[in-house]
Amino acid sequence: MFYRLVIKLIGRINQPLMHKFAYLYSYMFCKLCHFLPLKFSLPMSPVEVMGLCLSNPIGLAGGFDRQGKFLRYSDITGFGFIEVGTVNVEPNYQAIEFIQNLEKASQQFSNADNRQRWGINLGSHRNSLDKHAVADYTKGMELFWCHVDYLVINLSRPGSPVRALKPDLKELANFLSEIQHHHRQLALAKGHSIPIVVKIAIDPVNNELLNDLLLLIKEQDFDGVILAFENWPDSKAIIERLHTIKTVVDSLPLIVVGGVRTMADAKQLLNAGASLVQLYTTLVQSGPLKTRQAIASLNALK
Ligand SMILES: Cc1cc2nc3c(=O)[nH]c(=O)nc-3n(C[C@H](O)[C@H](O)[C@H](O)COP(=O)(O)O)c2cc1C
Repeated sequence: MFYRLVIKLIGRINQPLMHKFAYLYSYMFCKLCHFLPLKFSLPMSPVEVMGLCLSNPIGLAGGFDRQGKFLRYSDITGFGFIEVGTVNVEPNYQAIEFIQNLEKASQQFSNADNRQRWGINLGSHRNSLDKHAVADYTKGMELFWCHVDYLVINLSRPGSPVRALKPDLKELANFLSEIQHHHRQLALAKGHSIPIVVKIAIDPVNNELLNDLLLLIKEQDFDGVILAFENWPDSKAIIERLHTIKTVVDSLPLIVVGGVRTMADAKQLLNAGASLVQLYTTLVQSGPLKTRQAIASLNALK
């Protein structure tokens, strides 16, 4: 209650400060709980998606934990999976510090099966999808391959070529095919594969390209797609669009993010065909403990 009041107040004054405060509060709170003699097991509504076993289908979206520092303590939040980043592999030092954080987090869990699943959200600052962009993402895949459970090729950044009004489909197809080529090469070199998904923004308008893009992602054998619903007026419209998307790429796992404020919202999306659901703002607005309680209530919902 107190947390919600404080966060509301800070949000009225300064939005970026609100996000910083929420991150610091969650980090400190979870770190503190970690050292208490209490056991926080993950809320169980087990699912298997993209070959990954998750304790529940609710995850933390990219952008909250930008450097992987939170992972060591984040099990207290109850999320089934945590996506860290976005990391742009240039400049290099950012990735090195990031990997050190992931290594520290791994050391915390002697048995990887008992922890949340971890994803890395990879980005590129470039304004095209040419060979330089492919090289950025490939470098990111290679660096993080052995430290995470799944990879995200983030094409949802505002200003990215995919969000331009008339992106070139041929260039997109070539880009996705190159990324998959390098993914396969890395799987051979590393001796094991990990799932790879693409994150795209779904606008309420300007969606002529969407079906083609979804079909490309499916044809190129990606393991799933993260659909970031941004600036949508209500959850009903999101559910309707999700139904349409499902008809286009039926068997492709869909991870939905955007506007999920309650577990009832999340359950509706799961019932409408989402394989997994991610949150961001709800953690900021409610704090780690309330978020954990909400996730624990998922099983009771129809
Ligand atoms: C302050 C802020 C920073 C974000 N940073 C990233 C990011 O770095 N990478 C990314 O893929 N998404 C980022 N997002 C988008 C979120 O992952 C998510 O798609 C979006 O917030 C919608 O979910 P929500 O309604 O639960 O907040 C960011 C969102 C916010 C509010």
